[in-house]
Amino acid sequence: MNNYYSTPDSNNEELILKIKDLKKKRNAVILAHNYQLPEVQDIADFVGDSLGLSMEASKTDCKVIVFCGVYFMAETAKILSPEKTVLMPDPDAGCPMASMIAVDDLLKMQAEHPDAKTICYVNSFAEIKAHCDYCCTSANALKMVESLPYDEFIFVPDRYLGSFVKGKTGKKIHLWKGFCPVHLKFIKENIAEARSKYPNAKVMVHPECSEEIVAAADYALGTEGMLRHARSAAGENEYIIGTEESFIYRLAKEVPGKKFYPLSKSCVCPNMKKTTLEKVLWCLEDMKTEITVDPLIAQKAKLSIDRMLEVK
Ligand code: 13P
Ligand code: SF4
Repeated sequence: MNNYYSTPDSNNEELILKIKDLKKKRNAVILAHNYQLPEVQDIADFVGDSLGLSMEASKTDCKVIVFCGVYFMAETAKILSPEKTVLMPDPDAGCPMASMIAVDDLLKMQAEHPDAKTICYVNSFAEIKAHCDYCCTSANALKMVESLPYDEFIFVPDRYLGSFVKGKTGKKIHLWKGFCPVHLKFIKENIAEARSKYPNAKVMVHPECSEEIVAAADYALGTEGMLRHARSAAGENEYIIGTEESFIYRLAKEVPGKKFYPLSKSCVCPNMKKTTLEKVLWCLEDMKTEITVDPLIAQKAKLSIDRMLEVK
């Protein structure tokens, strides 16, 4: 088994017991994104990608959702479950890509392309989602654009995911200039070096990576797509993974017969790393920080998010 990360130490054991106990008392569910620290993934009731977490948030029976991820994800959970209390252990965990487009920018683009339908990547604020026709994640962006009966789209904010979809579908797609600073840390040399070090490994990268990284890889998939592929691909036993480093912990745990290597050690999302076990415990103790969304914005944003949940 790939031993890239250490397992929780004895100090963590005490924290884990307290979190489990308090979680029951508060009737809370802990949701964690694939990029969370290994020990945070381990105490979560559900670990997944943006799409899986949104689905889980929309169907949980618990009164409280503790969201271990970044702000736009907790906001999406609140929009899907307005009657639930959604808490973030560290509300300063944001996604820089989501901050790269403002509503005025979007309205300007829509005025320039009046016939285009607007799709936003889920990595965006609720206010942006409220001005879009559809929302998508990396797991269903391609399927969505392919299946919708329209030929012209505005895609925001990630120019790389947008350009990946554009290249595959051939549809007319107007791109915004947003990007993920973490996934852009991969450079072509990383692929050449990793392939020479692990000649039998396949390279899987996230579609948030630059075009040249996607072109040099064997597969471009969202995190859950990578997991599904690794589980089911016969004859492939080793993978070089081009996404945030903590995802390797989940891959190694859930696909124990195969080996996973990071494409580079510099792909670390500092915001995803803001959530720690201590903060999860404090969050349950103090019932803080609660995430709220303006009801009018939430109502409009929910339409595009509901459409996203229909495409798996
Ligand atoms: P996934 O939806 O593939 O988990 O990606 C979310 C994200 O923030 C990627 O950087
Ligand atoms: Fe945002 Fe990139 Fe971090 Fe994902 S990895 S949350 S896109 S900064």
